Amino acid sequence: MKILILGSEGFIGSHLINFYLLKGYDVIGVDLFEQSRSNITYHQILINHDTLSDVLKQHSFDYCINAAGNGDVNLSVSNPEQDFKSNTLFTFQILEGLRLYNPNCKFLYISSAAVYGNPEILPVSESAPVNPISPYGWHKLLSEHICKEYFELYNLQTAIVRPFSVYGPGLKKQIFWDIFNKSSNQNETLELWGGGQEARDFIHINDLIVAIDLILSQQILKAEIYNIASGEMTLINDVANLLLKNLEINKSIVFNGLVHKGNPIQWKADITKLSSLGFCPSVKIDQGVNNLATWLKLQ
Ligand SMILES: NC(=O)c1ccc[n+]([C@@H]2O[C@H](COP(=O)([O-])OP(=O)(O)OC[C@H]3O[C@@H](n4cnc5c(N)ncnc54)[C@H](O)[C@@H]3O)[C@@H](O)[C@H]2O)c1
Repeated sequence: MKILILGSEGFIGSHLINFYLLKGYDVIGVDLFEQSRSNITYHQILINHDTLSDVLKQHSFDYCINAAGNGDVNLSVSNPEQDFKSNTLFTFQILEGLRLYNPNCKFLYISSAAVYGNPEILPVSESAPVNPISPYGWHKLLSEHICKEYFELYNLQTAIVRPFSVYGPGLKKQIFWDIFNKSSNQNETLELWGGGQEARDFIHINDLIVAIDLILSQQILKAEIYNIASGEMTLINDVANLLLKNLEINKSIVFNGLVHKGNPIQWKADITKLSSLGFCPSVKIDQGVNNLATWLKLQ
């Protein structure tokens, strides 16, 4: 089996590569960065159609996963054009390239729970109304529609996943990274954004990868959408203190009450649809944060 991982130098992309190498697949990586590993075929590309088309012309893929794109909500607010190019335009270019050069390849798009905005009812299921509150969320939603377009009009097999808050070794952004960076200063307190009572549905990277593989392995893909989450809601205050405990750092956390534009308040996913494929999250938050802290201590 030959698989193309777009965004192969990123957090999710690099874990996908390890997983599919272990499965014995022929793995091809694509990213904007220079290659950091030597065990896969790698193409460094520029953000334009031609370089990506060259990759799609050179190989015949069974699977393609788009794990590329901006994953920073705040950046999307300050630079919506860049976010649109890396999240939406790039997805269009991949699908168009697949239509022309790899029409039998199964394509999985990593969207985001950000398409829900602040859901009115929790847990939120795939059929709930979408209501993005950031350029990032809007651009992910547009990309989902393009995946449906290429399935409906060109019979390209596509699947869409909406991960909630993914964490684990390799994650160098968001709350855990923020806490880790601030934990080494001399202050007795550690300041975080928000009020602490915000909540997220955290999913460990290992569980995310297993879920993606389950979805991709189906006989036929029909542009279906799947939430990927643990189905458990955890308060930011609790998870922040859990990490400090695992890092063996004795500081008290202070929330500054400020909310970043585009960030939701509470998330909890309904994972019934994913569970029907046989998915069961295996990493509990205590165990997952412990695993993350072990990696952080080595940084
Ligand atoms: N990490 C999460 O919690 C999470 C949750 C939901 C959705 N997602 C989505 O999953 C995807 C991957 O997230 P991540 O956390 O691994 O992000 P990341 O920033 O760690 O990795 C993204 C990678 O994509 C590359 N990239 C960007 N534009 C590209 C382009 N045009 N061509 C090729 N490569 C390009 C970057 O260089 C980077 O290596 C993103 O689209 C993100 O929005 C992530």
